[in-house]
This record gives sequence, structure tokens and C-alpha cells, in this order.
Amino acid sequence: MPASNVLLLGPPGSGKGTQGVRVARRLGVEHIATGDLLRAEVTAGTALGQQATWFMRAGDLVPDELITQLVMPCVVAAAAAGGYVLDGFPRTVAQARTARELAEQVGASPHAVVHLDVPPEQATSRMLARRRAQGRVDDTAETIAHRIEVFERVTRPLVEYYRGRGLLHVVGADRPVDEVTEAIMRVLSG
Ligand code: AP5
Repeated sequence: MPASNVLLLGPPGSGKGTQGVRVARRLGVEHIATGDLLRAEVTAGTALGQQATWFMRAGDLVPDELITQLVMPCVVAAAAAGGYVLDGFPRTVAQARTARELAEQVGASPHAVVHLDVPPEQATSRMLARRRAQGRVDDTAETIAHRIEVFERVTRPLVEYYRGRGLLHVVGADRPVDEVTEAIMRVLSG
């Protein structure tokens, strides 16, 4: 049986969202994308969305408490319903520790963590192309550079955190979308 509670970890533009949809469909579980959840809150004009919007525009992480209160109920519900592919959370060691405590209490812990590894230049050119096609506000050259710097400084330590817990799989994401999906499915089945 492949893992059914899966975290996708990777820098901006690594393909977390693209692969999250595909892998969740293959596993028959829910795809949860923190960026999409936050953008929905911003569009709806909720209090949480109003607090998050400036962090997102600047390419900074929203505060740990905000994102945890938004995401963890979705994770717990999805795990109870059969599993999840979670893309974009956790992004700090503090988020990971809080999520671990909450998830362990209800049997929603991840079975596998997939690190999508892609060179920054390639991730940047993908996001600039998306900017031209979709106009996402945080896809300017300056904000992309900052988002990548935030990933390297604050999120990359999670690679070692999850390696230490025996959950980490590294998948090269600098190749065509289908190949990346197949590589992820292989590590989840292995
Ligand atoms: P979020 O929406 O998660 O943005 P991100 O992590 O910066 O990631 P992206 O959506 O840019 O990239 P991706 O890795 O999902 O790749 P994608 O598949 O889209 O978060 C936005 C903001 O929300 C954050 O900056 C932060 O402010 C906040 N936030 C979210 N989670 C948070 C948390 N836990 N804590 C605090 N704050 C949080 O692909 C990118 C492009 O490349 C697409 O156009 C796609 O079509 C293309 N592409 C994908 N794969 C390939 C491939 N193999 N070959 C060619 N092109 C490809």
C-alpha cells in the first residue's frame, strides 16, 4: 500500500501544486494547498485573509499561528476521510513541531515527505512564465528572489528535520511533469 498521508516540500516553483493535484488523484486522497487556502481567504475578505495578504504580497511567510489554525483542521478531516497530499505546510520547524503534536493525537501524522528538488534558476523561470500567463501578484522577479531566500533560510531546515525522522524522499523536479509524478509515485510505493 502506498503512503496515504503525504507532505510535499520544496521551493517556490518546484511543482508542489502541480504534483499535489496529480498525486492526490492517483492516491485517491484530498489535495490541500496552503497557498490556495490563503488566497481563498484573501479573496473572501475574511479577518485571516486581511492579516495574511501583506505577508503574501511581500513573499514573506504568514505567522505560524495563523497558518496552523487554517490548515490543521483540514488535515485532520482529510486524514479521517482516507488521507491527504499537503503542499506548502509546514514551512518552519515551529509549524512542523506544532503539527506533529496535533496530528499524533488524532492519527493524522504524515507517512512520507517528498522534497521536490529543483535549481533556483529553473524555479524562477517557471514563476516568471506564470506571471506572464496568470499575473500572480507574488511572481515579480524581486518577490520571487525573496521567496526563494525565505525558503533557503527558514524552510530548508525541514529537509534535515524529516530526514532525521526517517520520512524524507528526495525527487528531482527539474524534468517533465509526468516524469516527476511517476518518480513520486515510485518513492511512495517503495
Ligand atoms: P504558495 O502558493 O504555496 O506558493 P509557493 O510555495 O511560493 O509555491 P508556488 O505556488 O509558486 O510553486 P509550487 O511549488 O506550488 O509550483 P507550481 O506547481 O505552482 O504560497 C504562497 C504564499 O502563501 C507564501 O509565499 C506565504 O506567504 C504563504 N504561505 C503558504 N503556506 C505557508 C505556510 N505554511 N506558512 C506561512 N506562510 C505560508 O508550479 C509553478 C509553475 O511551474 C506553474 O506555472 C507550473 O505549471 C510550472 N511547472 C510545474 N512543474 C513543472 C515542470 N516539471 N516542468 C515545467 N513547468 C512546471
